[in-house]
Amino acid sequence: MRSLSRLLRRFTRAASPLTAAALLLLSAHSASAWGHEGHRTIALIAQKHLSRKAQAQIKELLGEQSIADVASWADEVRNKPEYKGTGPWHFVNLPLGFGYADFEKQLKAKTEANAYQALNDNLKILADKKQAREKRLDALKFVVHLVGDIHEPMHVSRAEDKGGNDIQLQFQGEGTNLHRMWDSGLIHAQGLSDDRMAAEYDHPDKALAEQWAQARPEQWLFESYLISTQQYAEATTGTKLDTEYYKKHIAEVNLRLQQGGIRLAEVLNKALN
Ligand code: ADE
Ligand code: ZN
Ligand code: ZN
Repeated sequence: MRSLSRLLRRFTRAASPLTAAALLLLSAHSASAWGHEGHRTIALIAQKHLSRKAQAQIKELLGEQSIADVASWADEVRNKPEYKGTGPWHFVNLPLGFGYADFEKQLKAKTEANAYQALNDNLKILADKKQAREKRLDALKFVVHLVGDIHEPMHVSRAEDKGGNDIQLQFQGEGTNLHRMWDSGLIHAQGLSDDRMAAEYDHPDKALAEQWAQARPEQWLFESYLISTQQYAEATTGTKLDTEYYKKHIAEVNLRLQQGGIRLAEVLNKALN
């Protein structure tokens, strides 16, 4: 990574300032959830579906920042001592192969920290006006992030390969892994900004949006689990993925971003009514 940065810096001295900035940003990009763009897109979509009450309370908590601005905050603090123990909040690990009923049972029986438990806990804190402001502010930022992570299929996946992080493969000739493909690889291949994605993908028909909004978090998680199960079947270590893989799955990525946005608005509207 370091040598890549150096190479880019050398190259960018010759390029326009704008290109230089873009390339340096790219080289600094190495997130461990939906990349920055994915989380921002979900929050940008959610913003357009917030009630007035929710908007007002969010403004009270965040001030001039928007939920899109803080959508990746949870990734930035996960290694800080004050947020020790929040690492496992970003995903749920379960063995593959459960049908819905067993999946839900296993999910609810989990004792170690995970995204499902963390979402429920943070939603409770956010909804409770007796909690300290600082606690509710953190809870808001966690909720914005965790609804996103739960919609990233590889965040509901197997423990033994760290949600696909250990499945090394190639995409369009470059080394990557299965987890990163879904965090950011497919999104980067699409090449749209978060604003463009939020504009393009935020117009489901009313009935469909309503159906998404009514689904429970257990169901969101199961949807991700079904998609990750399929990805494990399609890609193992050493697999060379190409543009066909992108064409096959990019609509699924965009669907998850859109569902994440609609559902984030729904839980915020409920917690902040
Ligand atoms: N580490 C272990 N499992 C993981 C997952 N599903 N997503 C992200 N990081 C992980
Ligand atoms: Zn995360
Ligand atoms: Zn991730």
